[in-house]
Amino acid sequence: MAAPAAISLAVGGLLVVVVHLLRSYFSLSHIPGPFWAKFTNLWRFKSQNSKGHTTRLIALHKKYGKLVRLGPNHVSISDPAAIPIVYSTNPTWKKGPSYYGAVPISKKRTVPSIIAMDEVQHTAVRKSVGRAFTTNSLLDYEDSIEATGRELVEALTKNPETDIGQWLQFFAMDMLIRVAFSDTLGLLGKGGDIDGTLAAVMDRFDHWGRWAAVPDIDFLVNKSRLATLLRGVGDSPLARVGMNKLEARKNDVNKETYKDLCSKFLEGQAKYPDLMRQDAILGVIMSTIGAGADTTAGTLTYTLYFLSQNPAARSKLEQEIKDGLRAGTLSNPPRWAEVNNLPYLDAVLKESMRVLPVASWGLDRVVPPAGAMIAGKFIPGGTVVGCQIDAVHLDEEVYGKDSTSYRPERWLEANEDQRRRMDRSFLTFSAGKRVCTGIHIAWLEMKKTLPLLLMNFNVSSPS
Ligand code: HEM
Repeated sequence: MAAPAAISLAVGGLLVVVVHLLRSYFSLSHIPGPFWAKFTNLWRFKSQNSKGHTTRLIALHKKYGKLVRLGPNHVSISDPAAIPIVYSTNPTWKKGPSYYGAVPISKKRTVPSIIAMDEVQHTAVRKSVGRAFTTNSLLDYEDSIEATGRELVEALTKNPETDIGQWLQFFAMDMLIRVAFSDTLGLLGKGGDIDGTLAAVMDRFDHWGRWAAVPDIDFLVNKSRLATLLRGVGDSPLARVGMNKLEARKNDVNKETYKDLCSKFLEGQAKYPDLMRQDAILGVIMSTIGAGADTTAGTLTYTLYFLSQNPAARSKLEQEIKDGLRAGTLSNPPRWAEVNNLPYLDAVLKESMRVLPVASWGLDRVVPPAGAMIAGKFIPGGTVVGCQIDAVHLDEEVYGKDSTSYRPERWLEANEDQRRRMDRSFLTFSAGKRVCTGIHIAWLEMKKTLPLLLMNFNVSSPS
């Protein structure tokens, strides 16, 4: 009796798997894509973990069109017209399961991360601490950025031939800790990482990219109680730093005088104690630093690389800076009010982020139950979709026939209508309700730091 029962069980199990595979296959059979991606997310997992993932996705969009199926329930989009639909603010489409990859662990527990929060939690966090990220608060951070910029200039003066990318990582991390706590970690002073804090921030991003396609396996292998016990995961170095600084702030007799992120978060928490619990602050601070360090350092590094490869663009930017210094409209170090409206600086940074957006994976969202028409096709409710930023940024109708070239002028030559379309299709900071929270701080940091470097150094790429 036991053998037939086991056989029936095996056949039953196999049938369930086959039905599941067929159902997944047919639900999106009208969307083209790589063969194995129609049946399993392992195609995406493998692609994301091998070289050339982004180039592969761009090529797939070229081959199949504006919609490409990248998983049984996953569709990648390259149509700029889909942006206001997928990242609509009303209704807000839920973030997809891939964001679980961005959730960090500390003390064997997952830590709340703004980027991966559901909409209810996110609305509460924005209500209580959102003020810290508005343009009105921006000037409160300028001195912290300037002080860290001075340390960067000092460090680079002592190390004239060096890997600028690495120093920009130290700078971005020290700068954000200072913006958050009015104190630095001291990476620029040391010229290296301290207690693995920077490495942990970088690793969090890599981890996200590595596991985004298979969140269930990420849970089992990395984040479940058993996995963290077996792997002996301790507390996160960034959480340790954050915790110490938060405790120090609570006991600081001068705590009312600070104008940093920490003070604004604590104010928000005191005002809305039901929305933001005390222990959530640490997660919010950690995810803010985690989201802001690698991204700005990477963007500044790519920009310097593009300028070194495009001498005409570089000379134009240097000229804009020289003219400003000569006319007395720019200082060294430059102030935000002076650099905010420099047209060529703005175009250079935008063009770098268009050609090489740092978060180049799809920003996944779940299609609401009623389904949606995207790029002329019906996508059923529950499907996970995401605009593939690099492919959107190469759209020739929006960015021109030479969209693959690095040419900052395109942002200045466009007429008002074209410029509006370019801005609306620009996805580097995402779009809609979940657009990058730190976008204004990022602009402040990058527009102050790029001229600072060009004023003080001759940055070139090794030949
Ligand atoms: C060039 C620099 C930056 C780029 C390209 C960038 C890009 C992004 C992107 C693509 C997202 C994901 C949005 C989504 O899921 O749809 C994001 C989220 C976020 N970023 Fe940035 N970011 C940058 C700098 C910063 C800085 C400096 C900070 C902090 C001061 C910051 C804080 C955040 C936070 C807190 C989130 C989560 C937002 C949410 O889910 O509501 N970012 N960023």
